[in-house]
Amino acid sequence: MDALIDKQKVADSFSKAAMTYDSVAELQRDVGHTLMGYLPDSSPSRIMDLGCGTGYFSPKLNQKYSTANLLNLDLALGMLRFARQNRTLTNASWICADAESLPLRDASIDIVFSSLAIQWCENLPVLLKEIERVLAPGGRFVFATLGPDTLHELRTAWQSVDSFTHVNQFLSSEEHLSAVPSNLHLSEFKEEVRVLRYPQLKGLTDELKRLGAHNMNAGQKTGLTGREQIRRFKSAYEDQRLVDGAIPATYQVFYGVLEKPVKGLNS
Ligand SMILES: C[S@@+](CC[C@H](N)C(=O)[O-])C[C@H]1O[C@@H](n2cnc3c(N)ncnc32)[C@H](O)[C@@H]1O
Repeated sequence: MDALIDKQKVADSFSKAAMTYDSVAELQRDVGHTLMGYLPDSSPSRIMDLGCGTGYFSPKLNQKYSTANLLNLDLALGMLRFARQNRTLTNASWICADAESLPLRDASIDIVFSSLAIQWCENLPVLLKEIERVLAPGGRFVFATLGPDTLHELRTAWQSVDSFTHVNQFLSSEEHLSAVPSNLHLSEFKEEVRVLRYPQLKGLTDELKRLGAHNMNAGQKTGLTGREQIRRFKSAYEDQRLVDGAIPATYQVFYGVLEKPVKGLNS
């Protein structure tokens, strides 16, 4: 289940994209708003936005849980700096850290919210174990992530050029379900498919650059991609235009809620 992600690359790429991310993150905002609907109406003491990015959801979480301490965590320092400068928050703190190795005490967080961040993690069982550890009894992990059909058009276009990994590989719903630790209970798991449409391919490739969503998997081609390969890639993508002429880009989104029982499931 290891995706062999290059974490330094993830951090650098998102840090570089901090200034441009919000201008193109319409889908990410829609998904995060939908995910907020999965949050409980409770009065937590400590909540965390895991992979907070530019901090778009931080004020919203701050507002919903006005008495809670809000911890904003991200791997990319550039994202955290941007968020800190651009969001007005009360009772908030910031941590630059890896979700798979959280510098937090056991049972210290009541709600972990995470929108479109955990798909960049290397080892899902390790991540979920960390979440289980830091969640307080009765706590919840409310997440949105991407499935393997995401950007399948891009993958297909590159496959017609060479056999390198050009597009991030995301885990299936079965892989997500089988990674849930025995002491967490899955109370929600939903799938949503969204197809974004662009008049031109450049609209999509520019957007991915501005989002910082480059390919971070191992198995990538090193060195420059030649003109002929780019031509073949473009032509293979053009072949996938929809009947109305639009360039499609599919996003397969998984929404889930994991609950930590007040008493251990195994006790
Ligand atoms: C697509 S952005 C989403 C940001 C924000 N949650 C939103 O919905 O707009 C993904 C974020 O996850 C962060 N991220 C990726 N891998 C991470 C990891 N292992 N630990 C913590 N954050 C990570 C990235 O730096 C980036 O800011």
